[in-house]
Amino acid sequence: MTYKTIIEPFRIKVTEPIKLSSEEDRRQFLKRASYNPFKLRSDEVIIDLLTDSGTSAMSQNQWAGIMQGDESYAGASSWLKLEREIRDLTGFEYVLPTHQGRAGERILYGHIGGPGKVFVSNTHFDTTRANIEFTGAEAIDIPAPESWNMEVEAPFKGNMDTNRLRAIIAERSPENIGAVILTITNNSGGGQPVSLENASEVADICKETGVMFVLDACRVAENSYFIKSREEGMQNYSYREIAQKTFRLADAAIMSAKKDGLVNMGGFLALKDKSIALDCQNLLIISEGFTTYGGLSGRDMEAMTVGLREVFEDGYLNYRIKSTQFLGDRLQKLGVPVMRPSGGHAIYVDAKKFYPHIPVERFPGHSLACELYLKGGIRSVEIGSVMFGKYDEEGNLVPAPNELVRLAIPRRVYTQSHIEYVAEVFERLVKERANARGYKIVWEPPFLRHFTAKFEPVNG
Ligand code: F0G
Repeated sequence: MTYKTIIEPFRIKVTEPIKLSSEEDRRQFLKRASYNPFKLRSDEVIIDLLTDSGTSAMSQNQWAGIMQGDESYAGASSWLKLEREIRDLTGFEYVLPTHQGRAGERILYGHIGGPGKVFVSNTHFDTTRANIEFTGAEAIDIPAPESWNMEVEAPFKGNMDTNRLRAIIAERSPENIGAVILTITNNSGGGQPVSLENASEVADICKETGVMFVLDACRVAENSYFIKSREEGMQNYSYREIAQKTFRLADAAIMSAKKDGLVNMGGFLALKDKSIALDCQNLLIISEGFTTYGGLSGRDMEAMTVGLREVFEDGYLNYRIKSTQFLGDRLQKLGVPVMRPSGGHAIYVDAKKFYPHIPVERFPGHSLACELYLKGGIRSVEIGSVMFGKYDEEGNLVPAPNELVRLAIPRRVYTQSHIEYVAEVFERLVKERANARGYKIVWEPPFLRHFTAKFEPVNG
């Protein structure tokens, strides 16, 4: 007999205190942070759902690994273990350790990008897009048509639109395509999974046209969970085997191990092609570190080697996905418009629907993120026109396709009662939704403005 309650498959051995605050405290904290939750101090936050990146709790085996870190400059045993693990997982011969995902992006896209090049993805994550555009290249998102229908319960809404992929490659000509990047799961597209069938089709198109196929694999284990549970014929493979199959379709992979590597810092770039790998190794040495540690200490590499195994354990992945779905289902029952079905690492709230009285120029997603903080000390992140909006020549906002708020769940960090609390705060926001106000930007930097922009609340 299986019970319906999903328990955390771990006991807690070390605790980290949460500082509780009053609403009055938080009003002052947020004002001081120029109404940008990124600028809050972490001890001003009660439940931090800003990101699932680098926020995991490590296991006792990872901590044990930390004590075995070999900090040799060259040829450290910690590196050799990590290299073996990544080769076995990905099938790629050349592995470059980086301090996090975007370092791999900068190295690879800096090398193969540049003016005139076009990169195509189901959806580029913001650092991916920024690294590509920084080289002068263009980044085009082609999510599957069902991706932006928030309500439809399709199994693989993270898929790439392969018809458009063929058309873009033909239109722009294969030699101008820097790479095709498949982001699994599709973070900026709602944390939705990509099917193995879609990944295979993308791989076939890339092979036919001679275009490089890169996997953005930071949530590859969560994607494997969805493939196993939703894709025909995949039920008898282990999660790790499914990940191995996925990697083997691509020519290269970049992974921020701060997600499914279950570490607080780490990443890698892995490649099939020797000559690109050697060029990238040179860039690695210039900017990250020697080839056998990149941007990592020996102990980081030990923790990552263990994390990359643990993340595929049945009990862990089942708890991980089911507990995220638990929050999504609760919010839906409260009448909060959430993206369906729930993704692996986060719940996405449709703020445009939640606050229909706030126009996109007044950033309804940002407003919801501020309300969640003010009323409950919950930190989330806007994925809408603050993050992806642009200006036209007259300085008018060209809004993002959606105004979402992401509640990202750190791995193995919060218990069910923390999540119950989040639901209770939402219950209040539902009742008080008519009182929420919009915001205006009073200062912004030229790139990735959401991190540092300053805001002020506005009436009307
Ligand atoms: N690709 C995806 C799909 C990501 O989600 C991230 C990071 C990166 C690349 C870059 O990795 O942070 O290690 O440099 N996402 C985090 C997030 C920041 O909150 O979703 P990084």
